[in-house]
Amino acid sequence: MEKVAMMIKARRLFKDISDLPTIPAIVSRVVALLDDQDAVPDDIADLILSDQVLAARVIRVVNSPLYRTSNPIPSVKRALLFLGFKSVREMILTSYFVEGFNQKEQPFDMKMFWVHSFSVGAISRRIASLVEYPDAEKAYLVGIIHDIGKVFLGYYCKEEYGLMLDGIRNTSHTTYEAEYEFFGTTHCEVGLCLAQRWNFPSLYSDIISHHHSSEMGSEDPFLTSIVALADFYCLSHVTSDCVAQASIPGQSEEHAWKILTQFSAVPLTASLEHFLSDLDGEFESVSHEVDLLFNTMITS
Ligand SMILES: [Fe+2]
Ligand SMILES: [Fe+2]
Repeated sequence: MEKVAMMIKARRLFKDISDLPTIPAIVSRVVALLDDQDAVPDDIADLILSDQVLAARVIRVVNSPLYRTSNPIPSVKRALLFLGFKSVREMILTSYFVEGFNQKEQPFDMKMFWVHSFSVGAISRRIASLVEYPDAEKAYLVGIIHDIGKVFLGYYCKEEYGLMLDGIRNTSHTTYEAEYEFFGTTHCEVGLCLAQRWNFPSLYSDIISHHHSSEMGSEDPFLTSIVALADFYCLSHVTSDCVAQASIPGQSEEHAWKILTQFSAVPLTASLEHFLSDLDGEFESVSHEVDLLFNTMITS
């Protein structure tokens, strides 16, 4: 597939759209400050408190069953100290991303879409811990947002996307292949356009763009590989009408496995198959975590 031609097609889809969901500027400022090594909790708490909606959201999520706190956490500053900067950064971006698209009507089951996205996030975090990738929370967030392009295609090209999904139901075609045939581009290129529009860090955009072609990821091949393998694992374990099943690793997954074994701080098992089957023991707790996340982010 020709990436440049696919990017041109993806940009064309964006051209006339004026009602794209936006992420508030305050969120980008808070996320940038949370990324700053010299930032102190007081400054971040002040910035969060300058937006009452954002402050209320942080308090609500930190007190949800997701974080199992023993006592209620009443203030933004306590939330920052309890969760740590990285977790707050991921929690804020995730909740705004989920909200931005959750109200949009889709030709596929949105709950299944979120279950897939949150599962890929949770499995990415597990893999990141196993191989001692330095920022497991980042792996979690990128895992959650990796398929954002699908939500765009499903909403703005609803009819065609619905027809496309009908055409591949009960076949071995993946949505990735079908999108290419139908639109001449895929959710990876469309997701990249969306991530750039929202000023996501370039690392996030790169992984969104290459999670099905990990050999082309350039910003952080280690993290691209983690997310590509987490996605493959979830595609072979969770059934959904918007994400086709996958069972045989392709070029992207083989490459990701090579990179993972090369960069892992601990020696890994001899084969990708064994590595993935070792994750099965974790899958139950991941499913529980996904349920909690789903209830916290979607239904409240
Ligand atoms: Fe994907
Ligand atoms: Fe996916």
